[in-house]
Amino acid sequence: MDNDQVNKRNSELQRKRIKIDFLIHDLKVPLAVVEAGITSLLRRAEKYGPLTEKQEKVLLRTLRNTKAAQMLVNDTLELGKSREGVVNLREFKLSKLIEQTLVEIFDLADSSICEDIKCCTDFPQLKKALQEKGLLLFIDEEIWFKEVCLDEVKIKQILRNLLNNALKYRESRVELAVDREGDWLVFSVQDDGEGIPSAYHKKIFESYFQMDATGPHSIRGHGLGLAGVMVLVEDMCGKLILESKEGRGAKFLVKIPLTINPPTVS
Ligand SMILES: Nc1ncnc2c1ncn2[C@@H]1O[C@H](COP(=O)(O)OP(=O)(O)OP(=O)(O)O)[C@@H](O)[C@H]1O
Ligand SMILES: [Mg+2]
Repeated sequence: MDNDQVNKRNSELQRKRIKIDFLIHDLKVPLAVVEAGITSLLRRAEKYGPLTEKQEKVLLRTLRNTKAAQMLVNDTLELGKSREGVVNLREFKLSKLIEQTLVEIFDLADSSICEDIKCCTDFPQLKKALQEKGLLLFIDEEIWFKEVCLDEVKIKQILRNLLNNALKYRESRVELAVDREGDWLVFSVQDDGEGIPSAYHKKIFESYFQMDATGPHSIRGHGLGLAGVMVLVEDMCGKLILESKEGRGAKFLVKIPLTINPPTVS
């Protein structure tokens, strides 16, 4: 390729990027309308009539997820504005991160579990409620209550995608483990599904790649989740490791250094 061709290709990519950002940007309006509508139904009983307890629960779940979608839109646009690789460090408890991630996942998959999660008053109760649904937590109390200073939004996105995949491809169970190895925080998401043959261990991290693009699991996916996970892990100077043999489930390990020296924003 000569220089002109390279410049043309770069400007085509740039134009494509702008169009994608523009589409994401335009999602803000319909999302704001949905948010305003739900808020009115919840807050203005005198105008729209009283709600039953069940209706209120459904609306609150919808509102929570509309807000989650708005945050994702904002984060995407912010990402476009800032230099690639930027991390936003803030202090948070691992228990809060994991609880919120689970609520986001089950809000979509099985809202009854969400209600159970929210009713749990302590960690053993939560573990038991999840175990009944085939999700096993292997986290020591010390780690559960640990406060860390990392990029909470990115870690949530990583866990959400890995757990969604594991729940989609599992036979009957998923295990989530969190541990500390020296200066690293290690998340492990493991399922007991069909697994991933070693020939695909690199390919599945490419954008838009799905192992069985016509199979039943692919319907709601785009083959983008793992590519995104890989980029976010790299942004935090972490490591993403896949251990899987065909027919023997898949295990994704995410190792994040507890002290990140983020690239300085220019
Ligand atoms: N836990 C798993 N077990 C078996 N195969 C998996 C697992 N996780 C991912 N894969 C394979 O890797 C492919 C890529 O995963 P990825 O998360 O990137 O996309 P997706 O889940 O198909 O769609 P999206 O995440 O965009 O909704 C999947 O289509 C699937 O073939
Ligand atoms: Mg996925």
